[in-house]
Amino acid sequence: MSTAAAANPMPGVTAGAPVYELEGVGKTYARNNLVALEAVNLTLTKGSFSAVIGSSGCGKSTLLKIMAGLIPPSTGRVTLQGRPVTGPRRDIGMMFQQATLFPWRTTIDNIVLPIEIRDGKSAARAARDRARELLELVGLKGFENVYPNELSGGMAQRAAICRMLITEPAVLLLDEPFSALDELSRDFMNMELQRICRSREATAFLVTHSIPEAVILSDVVYVMKPRPGRIAEVIEIDLPRPRTLDMMTTPKFGQLVDKIRSRLDKEAFL
Ligand SMILES: Nc1ncnc2c1ncn2[C@@H]1O[C@H](COP(=O)(O)OP(=O)(O)O)[C@@H](O)[C@H]1O
Ligand SMILES: [Mg+2]
Repeated sequence: MSTAAAANPMPGVTAGAPVYELEGVGKTYARNNLVALEAVNLTLTKGSFSAVIGSSGCGKSTLLKIMAGLIPPSTGRVTLQGRPVTGPRRDIGMMFQQATLFPWRTTIDNIVLPIEIRDGKSAARAARDRARELLELVGLKGFENVYPNELSGGMAQRAAICRMLITEPAVLLLDEPFSALDELSRDFMNMELQRICRSREATAFLVTHSIPEAVILSDVVYVMKPRPGRIAEVIEIDLPRPRTLDMMTTPKFGQLVDKIRSRLDKEAFL
């Protein structure tokens, strides 16, 4: 890393050590010979928050699944914490649009499930104290023993955050985690997510359809374009941290949103 880059005052963008490295990552789905992703290069540094935004079908989920080791790339390589990603890993946490909690398990039993699957029932029992701490962290203290049908959408997503964090992943891969929530809950959850990431120095990569969400959370926004799916623009978000919701009404925020929207709009008409 150059001295100039190391001196960059924006935390997480160029200051941290590289955590994820993607080099020439491409994906062609064999079934339909579709080039879903072409030559993606990106580096995520420790503690950074990045978002990827782009029209439906441009390859965002494909990219995330490759990063998670859920599907192999057709070309290129993915390295996480110095080791190639060849399958699911303990240091990767994932979260999806739906909380997908099991209705027959209580909140806390849902949260310790990844430990139970990985290390067995006694390890899961031992993890319950940790689960309680996480529930407190996300504001769900007192909801340990209720079933998912008693949780609101926002509460269920918060429980899903706990389930993602229980294995102490170094990186969080988030595929539109809050897009099913109303706008107020979503703003609140975004601030919660920021707080959790900062307190754990987690590296986060978020797929979203929402430009304001991408801007308020990220150090860097990647704009993807389709046919073939690729990263077309990299936009640094130089708003100070910690971010607050009232920043969303500042001219600077508006300019960044407009900048990203113009990049997306151009694509829509090509
Ligand atoms: N398993 C698959 N087999 C074949 N084509 C797929 C598969 N998964 C996704 N695709 C196609 O790849 C492209 C990118 O999909 P996806 O990564 O889900 O996009 P996004 O998440 O941006 O909406 C789309 O055209 C989609 O139809
Ligand atoms: Mg998707």
